[in-house]
Amino acid sequence: MNSVIIFKSNTGHTEQYANMLATELGCKAIPLNQLSKVDLNAYDRIFFGGCVHASKVAGLNAFIKHLPKNANNQVIVFAVGANQYSEQNTQDLIKNNMSLTELNIPFFYLQGGFDPEKLNFALRMMLQGVAKSLRKKLEANPDELTEKDREFLEFFQEKNNHVDVKNLAELISYISK
Ligand SMILES: Cc1cc2nc3c(=O)[nH]c(=O)nc-3n(C[C@H](O)[C@H](O)[C@H](O)COP(=O)(O)O)c2cc1C
Repeated sequence: MNSVIIFKSNTGHTEQYANMLATELGCKAIPLNQLSKVDLNAYDRIFFGGCVHASKVAGLNAFIKHLPKNANNQVIVFAVGANQYSEQNTQDLIKNNMSLTELNIPFFYLQGGFDPEKLNFALRMMLQGVAKSLRKKLEANPDELTEKDREFLEFFQEKNNHVDVKNLAELISYISK
């Protein structure tokens, strides 16, 4: 199958997964901002990978707008975020990104990493806002913070990278069926 991977990455982790998948499949990985130069009709299978920001898959809606209408291409989305893989987290992301269910798009979640040096000003501010509200929640009532919230706060304590080709196994097994 003729595949292509489109990705939206701010600090490089989604790009790393996109490149790993491209190597596995022998296809190209192209940043979302170059999508206007790509003829998606030329591909049978189109992947979109986006980093997660405030529970949304970054770039997903922009990517969907570019999809050929009434075409038969297979579309698969993966998202790269802070939390470890869990079925619950995957389901929460599907709920928060309505177009996945509306268009019935297969979805995979992968854990990424944190590189504070690569964050631009806007993202740094956004992250401070998210962390502040979780910390407030913790101070007000420590029991209210879920395990997922705690894991999320922990993730941003220091630079880390959980990108691993092994995390792509489920996605690769899905497309090999
Ligand atoms: C401002 C901000 C908000 C984030 N919000 C979430 C989130 O809601 N859920 C999540 O799982 N990860 C969240 N993350 C973590 C990123 O998704 C994670 O660092 C990912 O690896 C970034 O991918 P990238 O390096 O391709 O940009 C957030 C990161 C930043 C900077």
